[in-house]
Amino acid sequence: MSNNYHDQAENLRKHFQDAETKIITISGGKGGVGKSVFSVNISSELALRKNKVLLFDSDAGFANASILLGKTVKKTLSDYIDGKISIEDCVHETDSGVNVISTGFDFKDWKLFQNNFNGTMAQEFLALARKHDYVIIDTGAGYSDKLIHFYLASDKIFLVTVPEPTAIVNAYTLIKALSMLDVDSELDVILNMITDKSEIRSVEEVLRKTVKNFLNKDINNFYKFVHEKSIHESVKRQIPIVRYKENNAFSKNLKILVDDITNNKRTKKLSFTERFKKIIGIEVR
Ligand SMILES: Nc1ncnc2c1ncn2[C@@H]1O[C@H](COP(=O)(O)OP(=O)(O)O)[C@@H](O)[C@H]1O
Ligand SMILES: [Mg+2]
Repeated sequence: MSNNYHDQAENLRKHFQDAETKIITISGGKGGVGKSVFSVNISSELALRKNKVLLFDSDAGFANASILLGKTVKKTLSDYIDGKISIEDCVHETDSGVNVISTGFDFKDWKLFQNNFNGTMAQEFLALARKHDYVIIDTGAGYSDKLIHFYLASDKIFLVTVPEPTAIVNAYTLIKALSMLDVDSELDVILNMITDKSEIRSVEEVLRKTVKNFLNKDINNFYKFVHEKSIHESVKRQIPIVRYKENNAFSKNLKILVDDITNNKRTKKLSFTERFKKIIGIEVR
């Protein structure tokens, strides 16, 4: 390890002492499986429980997280990296109490932060992150190299998929990619938009086997969500369903999932500081 890395590590250690921030990445092999719907509803439910939540919208797609929260995000992290605005300008408060930050459409590689870790940009971004209890990352479809550091830094990764052959194949590909990265985060699976309960078992078996083979561990929690008509309405109204239909099946199930997040008593293998050391490429083992 070079001296430079040692210096950076020392800086980081000082910077992140006592930080309790948890990082949760919502991923999935395929578009349209519900990643943004879960990012937004998990974030909102955590915020309803008085947590400070930063939703990192890295999927500048059609129904992206900010839009689902009823917010048009004009100032993005790309503008910040270009030096046009401050990091605070990128943070958008929403009615759900969730703070949203968006990468924008032409997000520059996260390496910009890495290369300049001692510089103000990385420091400012990480300082912003640590002001929150949770950072929720909504990823785009598939695996993206640009998000490598987020995967590595995550306490938990949700893999969202649906019971369709193409989505399962994509989930398989994503699990393989995560195995290459040597990710040590917890992995939870959300099987979404179930219409026929008889199809659950075979899908669950395939996913459990795949995770065991490639990641050499068990899926932490396997959640099942049925196809729920009112999700469409919630998307149209741009209000997370947990905020206005608390008692419908989706919301109830989601609250159980969030209970699992907040009750997580797992002794973390890595602290927040150690995870961020990974972000800048310092091996901690
Ligand atoms: N459980 C569900 N039941 C019904 N529709 C759903 C469900 N989950 C998601 N959807 C719908 O699927 C569409 C795609 O979801 P989205 O979260 O945007 O996918 P992704 O972010 O993975 O591309 C949304 O418009 C939403 O209406
Ligand atoms: Mg999305």
